[in-house]
Amino acid sequence: MITTYAVLSEGLEKHFGTVHALRGLDLAVAQGTVCGLLGPNGAGKTTAVRLLTTLLRPDGGSARVAGHDLVRDPAAVRRRIGVTGQYASVDGDLTGRQNLRLFARLHRVRGPAGRTDELLERFGLTEAAGRKASTYSGGMRRRLDLAASLIRRPDVLFLDEPTTGLDPSSRNHIWQAVRELKADGTTVLLTTQYLEEADQLADDIALMDRGRVAHTGSPADLKALIGSYAEAVVADGDALSVAAGVLDQLTGSRPVFDRERNAVGVVTTDPTLTLPRLVRELDAAGVPLLDASLRPPTLDDVFLRLTGEPGNSKELAA
Ligand SMILES: Nc1ncnc2c1ncn2[C@@H]1O[C@H](COP(=O)(O)OP(=O)(O)O)[C@@H](O)[C@H]1O
Ligand SMILES: [Mg+2]
Repeated sequence: MITTYAVLSEGLEKHFGTVHALRGLDLAVAQGTVCGLLGPNGAGKTTAVRLLTTLLRPDGGSARVAGHDLVRDPAAVRRRIGVTGQYASVDGDLTGRQNLRLFARLHRVRGPAGRTDELLERFGLTEAAGRKASTYSGGMRRRLDLAASLIRRPDVLFLDEPTTGLDPSSRNHIWQAVRELKADGTTVLLTTQYLEEADQLADDIALMDRGRVAHTGSPADLKALIGSYAEAVVADGDALSVAAGVLDQLTGSRPVFDRERNAVGVVTTDPTLTLPRLVRELDAAGVPLLDASLRPPTLDDVFLRLTGEPGNSKELAA
């Protein structure tokens, strides 16, 4: 089968003065899939989106988006894409409904009133549709912004950190919208700082680090690569060494001690190590257990493992 790419970039470069924001971005997003561009603050995610949506011109490299060359035919690219993100396009003086109708008219959508009502409904904004957008909460504005970018049924939708700072209800609306878009065949490229979000939504993840894609794979690939962190918290120092022995034997990994908390843990990629099994084994060895946990890797773990650089926050002990 031949894969068609909705986004295919090679060596995209962007400088801002002395800041080298993109250092050769290679990205391939298969048509009809959701790609999660994952990375910490400053990795170059927004710059990548602004280039790929023709808001900025690249200093080097090339890309095709929705079948058109980014630099040679930006107008054709623009006709096929939708974009929403950190540069909200909503007019606060207009109501939610007026905003959407304006977009519908601008883009010569057939049946603008019907399309507007359909999108208001889909994003839970029907009740608030007659209020000025300036009175909306952050989550409502974000939803309206996303609705506006969907007016035209784009082939490729770009979402720049669509849920950063949102309450869970708004976040769920947006997650649901992304799933529906995918079901309709839309290609979605979304940036996020949250591994969980990429895990929930993305078919493929591209991990960005300092202006480049450092790693690509499915969420399962990434997690299998990183494994999880199994930890036991015990009553005293004697129990700590027994627990360490059990963890070592179970996983073959070197235990890491946190003596202040009387805790010991290991990184493991063994899928058969479940929390019940962990508790059972520790219990069988007579370890007086206060707490046990098996947690998925954090974005920090991912970065540490794949790039050798800490992410935004510390956390992993040596
Ligand atoms: N307009 C700009 N002028 C100068 N530097 C910029 C500009 N936009 C982004 N940068 C810099 O480029 C790098 C990448 O930024 P950005 O693409 O916003 O990253 P992210 O979206 O992943 O947080 C950062 O070092 C940022 O400070
Ligand atoms: Mg950004």
